[in-house]
Amino acid sequence: MSSLSEELTGYAAVIVTGGSSGIGKSFIKRVAKLHPGLLICNLSRSVPDINLCQLKLRHVPCDLSDQGALGAAVAEVLRLLNVEAPSGRVLLINNSGFGGYGRFAEVNLAHQLEMIDVNVRAVVELTGRLLPILKARGGAILTVASTAAFQPTPYLATYGATKAFVLHWNLALNEELRGSGVRALALCPGPTSTEFFRRAGLQQGSVSDSLGQTSEAVVEEALQALVRGRAQVVTGWTNKLMVAVSSKLSKPLATRIGAKILERYRLRKAAL
Ligand SMILES: NC(=O)c1ccc[n+]([C@@H]2O[C@H](COP(=O)([O-])OP(=O)(O)OC[C@H]3O[C@@H](n4cnc5c(N)ncnc54)[C@H](OP(=O)(O)O)[C@@H]3O)[C@@H](O)[C@H]2O)c1
Repeated sequence: MSSLSEELTGYAAVIVTGGSSGIGKSFIKRVAKLHPGLLICNLSRSVPDINLCQLKLRHVPCDLSDQGALGAAVAEVLRLLNVEAPSGRVLLINNSGFGGYGRFAEVNLAHQLEMIDVNVRAVVELTGRLLPILKARGGAILTVASTAAFQPTPYLATYGATKAFVLHWNLALNEELRGSGVRALALCPGPTSTEFFRRAGLQQGSVSDSLGQTSEAVVEEALQALVRGRAQVVTGWTNKLMVAVSSKLSKPLATRIGAKILERYRLRKAAL
């Protein structure tokens, strides 16, 4: 089995969504350190603020909730690949995503539809548009799902369902891609210290730090799983344990227990 840096030197370019913050930003920092000079194309609304020497980062501004925006962004990514990394494998990291905490009826409906656009539609569209070049040059698709994908998540109902979609979709895609030179990995982190919880409407510290991982630890496990050719990785031992337990329960029981745990966060909802 090759090491992480050996594996990455086989790649010419990384295309990542949401590299301006959290897990996406940690992906950029880690791959750039392992493989300086690697072309990294980032798609997000804000520019990643990263200072690293030899960082070949190209920011392609894109609001993934805008259904018309991806065509132009993908054209720019393909142009950059052609000019700056014309051969070699390509790694696509579908990372952008957000949640919205609260009862379905209380969370703004437009916000939930936007969540489906970013967490689901953009993942399918970006992957579909880039698959021809990935197949031509070889590579991998790494999609950030969540431990929320393994059972329904009351008070995060839409968010959990978007993650269940991308987990199942990614696993199915990986099977279809066998023998094509492209594989797909679903990354399932649990609570991770990023901007995610604040953006989802929860106060900092709503999820106990002892339960959470750093974005750097999540990225490290993800890249190791990529080297091993895994189809799915749940990061962190507490998350692995929780997923193993919840998968033994009936869906209605897992949902009931999930509701008891998640409703406690209502007390710590941020005043937005
Ligand atoms: N943190 C956790 O506990 C946790 C656990 C499991 C899974 N995840 C998943 O991990 C992924 C990364 O989240 P994070 O924890 O790193 O949170 P984060 O720090 O809030 O980062 C979210 C990223 O998504 C991008 N994004 C959001 N809306 C976007 C839009 N409309 N168009 C383009 N990009 C958009 C943001 O970029 P801009 O704002 O610049 O556009 C930002 O870079 C998400 O898919 C999330 O669901 C997180």
